[in-house]
Amino acid sequence: MSISAASPYASFADLEREALACVRCPLATTRTQVVFGAGNPDADLMFVGEGPGEQEDRTGVPFVGRAGQLLTTLIEGIGLTRADVYIANVVKCRPPGNCDPLPLEIESCRPYLEAQLGFIRPRVVVTLGNFATKLLLETKVGITKLRGQEFTYGDDIVLIPTLHPSAVLRTGGTNIADSRADFVVAKRALARTAAAPADGSGAGG
Ligand code: URA
Repeated sequence: MSISAASPYASFADLEREALACVRCPLATTRTQVVFGAGNPDADLMFVGEGPGEQEDRTGVPFVGRAGQLLTTLIEGIGLTRADVYIANVVKCRPPGNCDPLPLEIESCRPYLEAQLGFIRPRVVVTLGNFATKLLLETKVGITKLRGQEFTYGDDIVLIPTLHPSAVLRTGGTNIADSRADFVVAKRALARTAAAPADGSGAGG
C-alpha cells in the first residue's frame, strides 16, 4: 500500500465528505455512522487502528472506548495530546459484533486511508495491531515480531508497529511496558525527523 501521488480528492474536506457517504461495502448497511478519523490533519504523528467498535459507531469518533482511553494515556505519556495527532482506522465502519474486518471491507476502505495519509503526510505513523500493520507494510508477519521496530512507509514516513490497545487490555495490561517502549520509539523518531529551522540555526549550524 502506498501514498498515491495524485489524490482523486480536491481537499481533505472533500475526502471526508465522500467517506461519510460511502456505500462501497456491506458495512454501510449495518453502521450507525462512518468513523472517518479525528485530530489534527497537519499532524506529524498519525495512528492507524483496526476499525470502530460500538462506542465509536455511536459517537463517530475513533478510539473513545476502553482501548481509546488507553491510547489517550499512551499519547499523553510521550508529552502529546489527542489534538496534536491524527487517529484513523483501516476500516471506517464498525464490523457488526466487533468481528475482524473482512478482506473486501479492508480493500474497499483502503483508498480512504491512503488519501488520509497523502493529505496529512505525517512524519511518523504508528500502526495499532495486526490489521493496520499488515496492510501498510504489506506483510504477513505478526505484530509481536514487528512491534517497536522502525520501517519506512512510502518515501520517507517512519512506520512503527505496536500492539493494539485492546490486545493490551485483554492481557490485563501485562504487556503495557512494550506499548510504552514503542511510543518512546515513536517520540524519538519524531524528534529525529523534525524539520530544520528555516533560519538554518539547527544542530551543527
Ligand atoms: N479499536 C480500533 O481499532 N479503532 C477504534 O476506533 C476503536 C477501537
